Amino acid sequence: MNKDYSSYFQLPNQKDAARRSRTPADIRREPLVISTELRRFAHGKTYRIQTFGCQANERDGETLAGILESIGYVPVVEPAIPDVWLLNTCAIRENAEQRVFGLIGAAKQHKRTHPDMIFGVCGCMPQEEHVVLRLLERYPHVDLIFGTHNIPRLPQFLHDAYFNKERIVEVESTEGVVFEDLPVRRDHTKKAWVNIIYGCDKFCTYCIVPYTRGKERSRLPQDILEEVRELHAQGYQEITLLGQNVNAYGKDLVSPYPFASLLRDVAEVGIPRVRFMTSHPWDFSQEMVDTLAQYKNLMPAVHLPVQSGDDDILRRMGRRYTAQSYLALYHSLRLALPQGSITTDIIVGFPGETEEQFNHTLALVEQCQFDAAYTFLYSPREGTPAAKMVDDVPLEVKKARFQRLTKVVATAAHQRNQAYLQRIVPVLVEGPSKRNPSILSGYSDTNKLVNFKGDPATIGTIVPVKITAIKSWTLEGEMVHE
Ligand code: SAH
Ligand code: SF4
Ligand code: F3S
Repeated sequence: MNKDYSSYFQLPNQKDAARRSRTPADIRREPLVISTELRRFAHGKTYRIQTFGCQANERDGETLAGILESIGYVPVVEPAIPDVWLLNTCAIRENAEQRVFGLIGAAKQHKRTHPDMIFGVCGCMPQEEHVVLRLLERYPHVDLIFGTHNIPRLPQFLHDAYFNKERIVEVESTEGVVFEDLPVRRDHTKKAWVNIIYGCDKFCTYCIVPYTRGKERSRLPQDILEEVRELHAQGYQEITLLGQNVNAYGKDLVSPYPFASLLRDVAEVGIPRVRFMTSHPWDFSQEMVDTLAQYKNLMPAVHLPVQSGDDDILRRMGRRYTAQSYLALYHSLRLALPQGSITTDIIVGFPGETEEQFNHTLALVEQCQFDAAYTFLYSPREGTPAAKMVDDVPLEVKKARFQRLTKVVATAAHQRNQAYLQRIVPVLVEGPSKRNPSILSGYSDTNKLVNFKGDPATIGTIVPVKITAIKSWTLEGEMVHE
């Protein structure tokens, strides 16, 4: 394949991506443009999408699959090599990117044996300048490079790659667009992701997401509710409302409609389980706490990233709350949802973190007793403010702190799980357990993984399970007949 670039060649620009205008989202409802030539050519050809990163990316993966299937592609049956292969990537930490570069390197071999395969890299990594430059310089076998805002143009990219033999690089840097009505091929038949707000305006100093995902922009309430009603009609048992910061939902709408109102309206549609993620503590209103307690189908499970328990670190992270104000919110949630679960994210080894500051994080975790905490070693991201901060903490020290933290986290999680012993919890049955196919597994209302003895005919429904044993991260039990 010739490697001339397409006429719309465009590199990302993180400075532009950081700009924020005050205009409301530009909602687009244009139908997909698929050329007849492409339809004819692609009919029955195969695709494979490998998605990394967060739920936003998983949901994007479902849109990519929906678009490819609208063109005429079908999922590849592995281990066959597909005709179109997309890596839907994540840029959140260095190790996520290393892994993808490893896969990109390995794909070279497949391109050699299957020169007509179209190999593409999309998602969050192409939103970074240094990534695109590296791809262009060192990985000539990548045919498509496109960003998180260019997904609806996939049919055009494929058309040009096939028929004009062009190499496609399209990564928009300024955006405020919301695309409605794109096709979707959902991964599950009982659980669905529902986007409610795209992008992030928080600009935590360590984080790449505001650059890769752009400006905060809410979908219109009627579009969200219509999607939820449709999922309800299709028999979905659980939906998760998605946003980098769901609590900021509605702030940019012309008529005010806060997240608490959306939660209420979504709950009233009647899907048995409604979840949401992620919540930034700063925007968490009391009205939200009250709404959660009020509706039975709003699941009592809140993911509330704290990142650090030290005020100076929190300030330098740009998190806009203190350990004390976090604790106040934490306790009001525990009070409102006494049987609920609260989970968090914590970063260890932020630039300049002292022993004392780390101890403040440990103390907060001991006090909070999180149901689970996702712990990460700080990873500098090019173009973010924290990447320029002086970091004099040796890696060994960071790793030792990380170990200490994960121990405290596991002890707390185990203690929280003690309360489940002999209790009966509702479980949405997913299927046979991955480790032991003779038992079933699913998630409780509080989002705990439960492995249990039960009837495979219940897969896809919500059943009562009595908890008979616990581990730090999972529960075990038996289905009961009430
Ligand atoms: N929008 C969500 C988080 C998205 S990223 C929120 O604000 O809560 C998921 C988690 O990755 C973050 O909560 C943070 O703990 C971690 N993370 C983000 N950037 C990181 C970095 N540069 N190094 C290490 N961890 C990071
Ligand atoms: Fe990143 Fe902070 Fe936005 Fe979360 S709120 S996506 S951590 S900038
Ligand atoms: Fe990763 Fe992008 Fe999500 S950077 S965490 S996939 S928003």
